Amino acid sequence: NWTMANIADEAVEQIRAQIGSGRALCGLSGGVDSAVAAALVQRAIGDRLTCVFVDHGLLRKGEAEQVEKDFVAATGVNLHVVDAQERFLAALDGVVDPEQKRKIIGREFIRVFEEAAREIVTGKPGEEPVRFLVQGTLYPDVVESGGGTGAANIKSHHNVGGLPEDLEFTLVEPLRTLFKDEVRALGEQLDLPAEIVWRHPFPGPGLAIRVIGAVTRERLDILREADAIAREELTKAGLDRDIWQFPVVLLADVRSVGVQGDGRTYGHPVVLRPVTSEDAMTADWARLPYDVLQKISTRITNEVREINRVTLDITSKPPGTIEWE
Ligand code: XMP
Repeated sequence: NWTMANIADEAVEQIRAQIGSGRALCGLSGGVDSAVAAALVQRAIGDRLTCVFVDHGLLRKGEAEQVEKDFVAATGVNLHVVDAQERFLAALDGVVDPEQKRKIIGREFIRVFEEAAREIVTGKPGEEPVRFLVQGTLYPDVVESGGGTGAANIKSHHNVGGLPEDLEFTLVEPLRTLFKDEVRALGEQLDLPAEIVWRHPFPGPGLAIRVIGAVTRERLDILREADAIAREELTKAGLDRDIWQFPVVLLADVRSVGVQGDGRTYGHPVVLRPVTSEDAMTADWARLPYDVLQKISTRITNEVREINRVTLDITSKPPGTIEWE
């Protein structure tokens, strides 16, 4: 695509001009924005960019691997992975309140990122310290934070990849003038893995706010399996691009009676929450074809032992929100 090739070349030139001979740091979240921003900066300054990926254990099945292996293979980027799964589980132990979960995850994320960044920022002997921080800020983010729309803060959204407060960086934001669809086109132009380029929006606190109730490793694993099945069937049906987001929610404290084979079961329900939307401010429940819903339901109850009931959320936003927490 000629236009996107131009945009990529221009962005690379601008980044080179801004960073000069300096070094940069970028936090990867697993999402498309930070991935495309990092790929552009990598093109511009090569191994003077270091990416940090905090694996908080709250991503969906295969997503950590897509960052650690496929993204690195596609870009040759210098990646520092922090396995912080135990730390996040410990910090979330017994926490049920959604806003409390968000606060804890936001706080731990910044601490872990900061710890990892310190060493990188300081650099090895003879190396320049890092002065630039790359962020995947899009045009709508810029407008939203400066526009003062006065929208009530219903949920305290935090963006994974946040700036540690006591480190002074100059921001590099190569996507500041772009919309999501342009970022995806750019990602394709840069040969990033399709799984990353076409990934649906995913909340920073990840699966922790899709386990209703306290978060445990076992519950996350159950949800991850069910979620993977739902995503796989959506992709198979060719509907990925018609759907804005497809949360699967585990009602971890609810049990219902079922029957399977000739035995009684007493398992957990999951809720399918496929939505269509333009910008997540409003949304409608997606009218997924019955045969796709049926396949998802059959597969989840057959393949995930702990789940014996699959339900569909048919609430629009408002009055519902997209996420359940
Ligand atoms: P709601 O649930 O408010 O979500 O309709 C709107 C959009 O925001 C995402 N979301 C979050 N993103 N941190 C994030 O980075 C959060 O705490 C958070 N909560 C919701 C949600 O997935 C949807 O795209």
